Amino acid sequence: MSISSRHSSHSRPCHESSPCACSCAAAQAVNTPRRRLIQIAAASLAAPLGLSATEAWSKPSDGDRLVMEEIEGAPAPLRLTDIRPGKPVLAFPFDASSKSVRDGSRLNKVVLMRFNESELDAETRARSAGGVLAFSAICTHQGCDLKTWSSKAQLLVCFCHSSKFNLREAGKVAAGPAYRPLPMLPLKLDGEQLVIAGGFTAPPGGQLA
Ligand code: FES
Repeated sequence: MSISSRHSSHSRPCHESSPCACSCAAAQAVNTPRRRLIQIAAASLAAPLGLSATEAWSKPSDGDRLVMEEIEGAPAPLRLTDIRPGKPVLAFPFDASSKSVRDGSRLNKVVLMRFNESELDAETRARSAGGVLAFSAICTHQGCDLKTWSSKAQLLVCFCHSSKFNLREAGKVAAGPAYRPLPMLPLKLDGEQLVIAGGFTAPPGGQLA
């Protein structure tokens, strides 16, 4: 997908070179610092907004750590205490053996949130680590990035068309137009470090038209 492609809320092509307030994939590519731009632009070409289950990329794997999306210097695996309640953190899987970030596709991006474990339903709690949950950060409607937490509604909100997801209940849709729950990435702890305990519960990405 070209970074100059149209967004449904724009009447003309945008994002060709300047930052934009909207959060569609094209804007993400332009608004992202240069360090990440090359990787994400390439990923967007390889993995457009629809489901991409048949495309090859280095997917999250059991035992991977997580590192923040924006890295200064060497990637540092995230710890339980790095995730504060009410503050979403965007992250990518990190292969500790090869010391490489699995950011070859934006479909690997996850949003981390921390809750009191007693607030989670049984299915969700089973995939949490100390109350920290990992969900695909790609909206299941049309693939916009998800990073907005509504503290009032206690839901994750998509900036593009206002779908809302209930993270305490396994990412189920609280309001459309999305109809697919957010895929989860199961977590576990190794000491204080957050560790991926398996693959996504469903293919990440937006729905096909
Ligand atoms: S992309 Fe449409 S609601 Fe998220």
